[in-house]
Amino acid sequence: MADLTTERLSLRSFGPDDVDFVFDMYSRWEVQRFIGLVPRVMTDRAEAVERVERYAALEHPVHGIWAITDRVTGGRLGVALLKPLPASGPESPLLPSGDVEIGWHLHPDAWGHGYASEAARAVLDHAFAGGLPRVLAVTNPGNRASQVVALRIGMTHLGTTDAYYNATCELFGIDRPAAP
Ligand SMILES: CC(C)(COP(=O)(O)OP(=O)(O)OC[C@H]1O[C@@H](n2cnc3c(N)ncnc32)[C@H](O)[C@@H]1OP(=O)(O)O)[C@@H](O)C(=O)NCCC(=O)NCCS
Repeated sequence: MADLTTERLSLRSFGPDDVDFVFDMYSRWEVQRFIGLVPRVMTDRAEAVERVERYAALEHPVHGIWAITDRVTGGRLGVALLKPLPASGPESPLLPSGDVEIGWHLHPDAWGHGYASEAARAVLDHAFAGGLPRVLAVTNPGNRASQVVALRIGMTHLGTTDAYYNATCELFGIDRPAAP
């Protein structure tokens, strides 16, 4: 998975040293409240270990799950992801829809600085440079902060849908820009 660099951020792969950060972030209700069909906070550090192992094991030329870090200090800020978007359906785990989703989870200490938008722009550029024709984002209808990020990086609001994650979501999308 390629590292990505922006003006203020470095997006890199996860490793075992990130477990405490991941546990701290996902054990907070303000982070989890709009994530998943039935939001719940992480309560067991073993879940964070398993999560980091899963993130670190992802090997794909374009998809990725990155640790968003401060480019200067290396301080951890959050998670950015680019991965297959699951379709709604009875299967568990849900089957891929054929579309790719972009996502962002920031630690509350890092909110309010535009880091999510900055990281997401880099992930989007990477997605299109890697040949993806279209990227989607799904947000809980109440997740205004996330919807602002989607719009800010140039995505279009495509309406409300039940097509993904067995949940009602606001859907955002963007197509690869035409070559100049
Ligand atoms: C979504 C998230 C990454 C945004 O992080 P961020 O960019 O640092 O967020 P900001 O605080 O800068 O807010 C982004 C914008 O949304 C606005 N906003 C934030 N909360 C809002 C709310 N409750 N209602 C309306 N607007 C809101 C902010 O005012 C800001 O716009 P501005 O820069 O013009 O003032 C962060 O809130 C987060 O990690 N949430 C938990 C995880 C999550 O829900 N991820 C998305 C899953 S789809």
